[in-house]
Amino acid sequence: GPSRVCVTRTLPDAGMRELETLPGPVDVHHGDGPPSRAELLDAVAGASGLVTLLTESVDEELLTAAGPDLRVVANCAVGYDNIDVDAAARRGVVVTNTPDVLDEATADLAVTLMLAASRRVVEADRYLRAGNQWIWDPRLFLGLDLSAGATVGIVGLGRIGLAVARRANAFGMRLAAHRISESCRAEADALGVTEVPLPTLLSSSDVVTLHCPLTPRTHHLIGAAELDAMPSHAVLVNTARGPVVDEAALVDALERGAIGAAALDVFEHEPRVHPRLLELDNVIAVPHIASAGHATRDAMATLAVRNVAAVLAGRPPLTPVRERSSCHS
Ligand code: GLV
Ligand code: GLV
Repeated sequence: GPSRVCVTRTLPDAGMRELETLPGPVDVHHGDGPPSRAELLDAVAGASGLVTLLTESVDEELLTAAGPDLRVVANCAVGYDNIDVDAAARRGVVVTNTPDVLDEATADLAVTLMLAASRRVVEADRYLRAGNQWIWDPRLFLGLDLSAGATVGIVGLGRIGLAVARRANAFGMRLAAHRISESCRAEADALGVTEVPLPTLLSSSDVVTLHCPLTPRTHHLIGAAELDAMPSHAVLVNTARGPVVDEAALVDALERGAIGAAALDVFEHEPRVHPRLLELDNVIAVPHIASAGHATRDAMATLAVRNVAAVLAGRPPLTPVRERSSCHS
């Protein structure tokens, strides 16, 4: 019969409309959250295409459950650490992600978090809501001056890191980076980004912002030693993936005053957030919303569905994960 496509969650509107253009049947898991593992394994059986979210683990078991008709897994995210890409490749299953379309939104949130943490915006808002008596005071809620030559250290300068660098440059910040993608190097150079080893970046940055993918190499890249290497006023921003940071070590570093603040969009054990993080005034925690702009999420969902459509029609995918990423400016 015609190729069936399984979608693991209700997509943003544009993605739902794009699904209507597919020639074959489409099954969408409608529900408040992701399907249970059992529901997922059942739903994928016999599918030719899957549209998945980062909450779904696409591993050997799931690929086996899908069966031999499966030709494409389109992750509606730029990160694809939830997918066993090698297992998919062994079966000839194409894996795609949604790069480029979320770079600006993600960089916007990273900068929002660095400004909010540096200037203690969330803490100050809580202070007013708590009904504190106040009168303007020259020492009230003093924070870090970001524009006056503060240094931002970008760990992983690819497309998203570059979008952060452009913003930080416009603020007059100094820029350092560890690991610059070849395709981003020319623009990084033009922005005055200095490439430094990670220890140098950590010890010389007022803000450290993470933009690397989660891989075995970057798992716990930031642990106790790295946090201790940062200045005691430094702000750590994570909009990449939670496990890039050793969360227990981060809690400890914040409690000891080893760093100044953390602003986190992602967590090591999502959806769980380390309870002690939420007790600290110098922590901003938001629920993995970096790409959550209306237009951005529409673009991600549309791209994911177009990847499925292309592969099922025998055309090359638009954004396969193995393709060398380009650096759009
Ligand atoms: C979100 O975290 C993404 O990878 O797109
Ligand atoms: C602050 O409100 C100022 O006027 O300096």
